[in-house]
Amino acid sequence: MAGVADLLEDKDVCICAGSGGVGKTTTAAAIALGMAGRGLSVCVLTIDPAKRLADSLGLAELGNDAERVDPALLEAQDSPVEGELWAMMLDAKATFDELVARHAPDEESRERVLRNRIYQQISTALAGSQEYMAMEKLFELHSEARFDLLVLDTPPTRNALDFLDAPRRLMQFIEGRSMRVFMKPTGMAARVAGRGAGVALSIVRRIVGFDLLADLSEFFTAMSGMVDGFRERARRVDELLAAPRTSFLVVCGPSGEPVDEAVYFHRKLVEAKLPFGGVIVNKVHRLPDYAGGDGEDLRGGLRTALDDGDLADRVAANYADYLSLAERDSRNIDHLAAELRTRSVIRVPYLDEDVHDLSGLADLNRFLFAAGRDPAATATDG
Ligand SMILES: Nc1ncnc2c1ncn2[C@@H]1O[C@H](COP(=O)(O)OP(=O)(O)OP(=O)(O)O)[C@@H](O)[C@H]1O
Ligand SMILES: [Mg+2]
Repeated sequence: MAGVADLLEDKDVCICAGSGGVGKTTTAAAIALGMAGRGLSVCVLTIDPAKRLADSLGLAELGNDAERVDPALLEAQDSPVEGELWAMMLDAKATFDELVARHAPDEESRERVLRNRIYQQISTALAGSQEYMAMEKLFELHSEARFDLLVLDTPPTRNALDFLDAPRRLMQFIEGRSMRVFMKPTGMAARVAGRGAGVALSIVRRIVGFDLLADLSEFFTAMSGMVDGFRERARRVDELLAAPRTSFLVVCGPSGEPVDEAVYFHRKLVEAKLPFGGVIVNKVHRLPDYAGGDGEDLRGGLRTALDDGDLADRVAANYADYLSLAERDSRNIDHLAAELRTRSVIRVPYLDEDVHDLSGLADLNRFLFAAGRDPAATATDG
């Protein structure tokens, strides 16, 4: 079975996708560290990392710029890192602003959009804008060709697929009916609107506290000048996502529903002709290598060792629960591999502690980058 390094051979973009809370951010950071350890210059684009992980990557605050992880920190690790590790915390709002700045025809319309209150609301709240902006930033960095590999973390979408749909939804919104409604009205619509508009506007103004309709109209008129630029850009982002040097790694948990979601996400990737690289099943309960038997044997042994029958029974029961979890995970992963018809399923165990620093990431990498099967997995496969 392949490790992450095999899956990413010859790739320059790696996208860690999956549903919420499965470990996308952690995995993305670990992969970036691992690939930097193989001599590459790697940048991980993270979204909302836990504070401690951000700190350990030297990302004290949102920057929207890549920061190099202190080489001294990397050197202090058990296995030295020969490449460069860079990290960046994605800021969707700042990326949107940069995008507007790029596509605005002139200074004045740029300022007009950026200052516009509707824009300010929409660019922070627009559904899908975070997903779209993540890919937008990815595209920008990729065009600059500063790094050998970009690893993209993806936002915690309710549904993993929202992420793939984001560019299309954003374009639909900008080009769509909502836009036309607010552009300068002409003909009949203008005459109808014109009559009651004075009263309506003054009511709206009283309610929302500013000239909502004027702002809306200004926003959409200004944006309309940028639609072509946006559309072209969205097309090129799509192209990058589908490129042969891009790889989607699906991250999932080992229990029933997360595994089903991974199967579904894989199918959608294939349908959309996007390059599926492999699956990472994170937080797997491993079958322990303990060979002292179970049931009565174990209980007997524990009673002797612990000298407390009650405690021994509880430890034995706990162990039995854990074994059934491990067996369940193993069955689910076999099912996953069969459904996906792939051998590229990488198992990462549930570690005893949260992963929030470089050495925790390195712990994960023992599994992410292990070529060959997890011995515990082989035991149940055979
Ligand atoms: N293999 C593991 N063993 C133990 N803890 C883990 C493991 N992988 C991740 N974690 C912990 O699980 C938590 C969630 O991980 P992470 O933030 O990477 O998930 P995520 O998929 O990015 O979540 P979200 O969808 O909210 O962005 C973190 O506290 C992390 O330290
Ligand atoms: Mg995350």
